[in-house]
Amino acid sequence: MNPESEAATESEQTEVGTAQRSSDVDTTAADRPLGTPRVDDAIIEARDLDVYYGDTQALHGITMDIPEKQVTALIGPSGCGKSTFLRSINRMNDLIDVARVDGDLYFHGKNVYDEDVDPVALRRKIGMVFQKPNPFPKSIFDNVAYGLRVQGKDDGDVEGKVTTALERAALLDEVEGKLDESGLDLSGGQQQRLCIARAIATDPEVILMDEPASALDPVATSKIEDLVEELAEEYTVVIVTHNMQQAARISDRTAVFLTGGHLVEFDDTEKIFENPQSQRVEDYITGKFG
Ligand SMILES: Nc1ncnc2c1ncn2[C@@H]1O[C@H](COP(=O)(O)OP(=O)(O)O)[C@@H](O)[C@H]1O
Ligand SMILES: [Mg+2]
Repeated sequence: MNPESEAATESEQTEVGTAQRSSDVDTTAADRPLGTPRVDDAIIEARDLDVYYGDTQALHGITMDIPEKQVTALIGPSGCGKSTFLRSINRMNDLIDVARVDGDLYFHGKNVYDEDVDPVALRRKIGMVFQKPNPFPKSIFDNVAYGLRVQGKDDGDVEGKVTTALERAALLDEVEGKLDESGLDLSGGQQQRLCIARAIATDPEVILMDEPASALDPVATSKIEDLVEELAEEYTVVIVTHNMQQAARISDRTAVFLTGGHLVEFDDTEKIFENPQSQRVEDYITGKFG
């Protein structure tokens, strides 16, 4: 895929994230999992979302409102569909041949699966950070500037934007004066913060993180956790973690997915960990399975 040629067609597309809330967004509570009143400040609204890989259904009827500028954690046992749900938000599942999505996913009230949505533009508004840090074999500066250049936005103050992104990703102090060194020479934790800086540089509204600290040592993990909490002042963060303590520490709301691809409970993080409504969630939280 050539991102530059895809970007060229973008002007013909509806700008994502600017649409008015569409009137057909379902606002009834009937099909919501436990503890999920509709939130007024929802930036992302999933409605009866199913995802299939070939004939296998990985997610069943996910209905969920993700609040703006908060940290929403997705937890649950391996294989329950956390990564699949995360990828459905910015249409990364499009890149998997056998994946098929049914149902609706609204971003600012616009269905991201509408025909006039350009997935490349969508992914700049809804950036993603993966489990394994994946810097490009380029300088630290070029890693962060990459998104801006692809976007054709390097006419302005690239240096300023790179510096700001590195600062927001809590990496600037550690790399100042060596921005021309390779991103691959950084430690694992620094590489992950570099990837976060790269995602931030294009000025997204939402940052999706798929177990961003699970390949890192405890010190680097704690830096990422602090950073996630800071980022939520400016961005909406949706983070998958298999570490329940991490979800409890850093998230405002927690969604519990359980085996088979069902969202079983979604509520304030405190409530999920202290007083879950579902017995299955309580069993999972207290370590009886999973
Ligand atoms: N690319 C893929 N092709 C086929 N099946 C997949 C693919 N990715 C995930 N799956 C299946 O979908 C289910 C959910 O996977 P995943 O979303 O990765 O779960 P989690 O992130 O919670 O561990 C699993 O059964 C997994 O095997
Ligand atoms: Mg996963």
